[in-house]
Amino acid sequence: MNAAIVYRSRTGTTRRFAEEIGAHLRTLGVETSVASVGEADRTAMAAADVVLLGCWTNGLMVVGQHPDQTWIDFARALPDLSGTKLGLFTTYRILTGSMFGRMRRELRGRVGAVDLELKSRDGSLSEEHRTALARFVGER
Ligand SMILES: Cc1cc2nc3c(=O)[nH]c(=O)nc-3n(C[C@H](O)[C@H](O)[C@H](O)COP(=O)(O)O)c2cc1C
Repeated sequence: MNAAIVYRSRTGTTRRFAEEIGAHLRTLGVETSVASVGEADRTAMAAADVVLLGCWTNGLMVVGQHPDQTWIDFARALPDLSGTKLGLFTTYRILTGSMFGRMRRELRGRVGAVDLELKSRDGSLSEEHRTALARFVGER
């Protein structure tokens, strides 16, 4: 089983979260790549069993949360991932609010169901995140 994790980070927190998710998946025996949206290999993404897409939360702190334009441009150029197990992740300061909904909206038509949504304030992986990830990759 293999996983592709692709993140968009401005100041490094979402990159840290992506790397921690990747490190955990590897401990579960999943061959995992971690790349920024600029580095991502779209062909490898389309071939992966599992794809996790992340972006920092951009908004007016308590309302209007959305992925940034770089992530939106990336999402709109994705290949068809409808047969791939898909999860989303974000980092934030106060509230993720409409963030996951907006991410799903940008992906509509190119992906199937979103099976996992993970959020972290500081990019660290909690016990709850580890359990959710194990369940996510276990349910195939
Ligand atoms: C312009 C701007 C808008 C933000 N809007 C929100 C927001 O609406 N809600 C929130 O909880 N955090 C918000 N944040 C905080 C970031 O989402 C948070 O610091 C995130 O972890 C940054 O990720 P990065 O280090 O990967 O860039 C905002 C930060 C910036 C710079």
